[in-house]
Amino acid sequence: MKRVLSGVQPSGHPHIGNYLGAMKRHVAHQEEFESFIFIANYHALTTTRDGQTLRDFTTELALDYLAIGLNPEKTTLFRQSDVPEHTELAWILSCITPMGVLERCHAWKDAETKKKKEPSAGLFTYPVLMAADILMYKPDLVPVGKDQKQHVEVTRDLALKFNNLYGETFPLPEPSINEEVQTVVGTDGEKMSKSYGNTIALFGDDAQLKKEIMGIVTNSTPLEEPMDFENCNVFKLYSYFATPEEIQTLKDKYQAGGFGYGNAKKSLLEKLHEILDPFRQKRVELKGNMDYVETVLKNGANKARAEAQKTLAEVREKVGL
Ligand code: ADP
Ligand code: TRP
Repeated sequence: MKRVLSGVQPSGHPHIGNYLGAMKRHVAHQEEFESFIFIANYHALTTTRDGQTLRDFTTELALDYLAIGLNPEKTTLFRQSDVPEHTELAWILSCITPMGVLERCHAWKDAETKKKKEPSAGLFTYPVLMAADILMYKPDLVPVGKDQKQHVEVTRDLALKFNNLYGETFPLPEPSINEEVQTVVGTDGEKMSKSYGNTIALFGDDAQLKKEIMGIVTNSTPLEEPMDFENCNVFKLYSYFATPEEIQTLKDKYQAGGFGYGNAKKSLLEKLHEILDPFRQKRVELKGNMDYVETVLKNGANKARAEAQKTLAEVREKVGL
């Protein structure tokens, strides 16, 4: 069975763009692959400076994954910091990483050129820690968003370099980018993103969901006229979740005229309730049983750590530690 591994930063409450673009796929993988998902809290230290916030975001993200259907019997779910071997492997890899490779990484270049805040050494070596996360588990596939592809390429370069220096150790992981997933639009028609304030929360309450949907930007077609579905944010958001038949039905209503954006938003609200309510209910249940969530993370860490210790023992022996 092929192995997949992916990491997710605990950076706040996920939105439906995160769900459709990444989380849903992570959960689907458990049916097909041996799957590892970890919460990249060491990476989040490059941006989050408040301890309690980081701790809360980390367990909340575990809750989110369990609520959308991640099955801990099938997927090894763990906190990166519960497997401190990652940092040791990162150090060893950093000793064979050319500075120039890291200087060319987009995430670093962006931070440096914007010069908003002083970019940290942690941000600079971020891709090396990510390479350690990956190589530790010798996965076949690493599902990532487009913005992370370069980091997986760096990982492959480092694996190759390590193998050349010390003998065959790491298989080269393939980045797996889901080209089918479109960029989910936000309530203003731009890419949905936490940083643009245009999100629909995956786990808000009913009032919040309603508010977010009512706030979707639409044009000013008069009620009686046909509406342009192709350029409509409500229609786009609806189509991410609806069946082809349901999409066709909504399209017909748009084209017939006399429908109006109020009704379109009502259809979207109903659809989102249908899809999201079961996740939201499950999350409420789980939140009442945080001991269970902790147990899942501990068990995941035990499994992951056993793998990590095997790889690290091999690496230590090869490099002469
Ligand atoms: P944000 O832009 O809200 O901060 P992140 O950059 O943390 O989101 O992305 C986390 C994951 O969710 C990545 O795998 C990314 O590709 C995916 N993702 C984020 N926004 C979208 C979107 N609008 N459409 C599709 N996928 C998205
Ligand atoms: N850098 C990734 C992101 O921001 C998260 C991450 C850390 C990761 N380590 C990883 C993803 C290893 C895949 C594999 O999205």
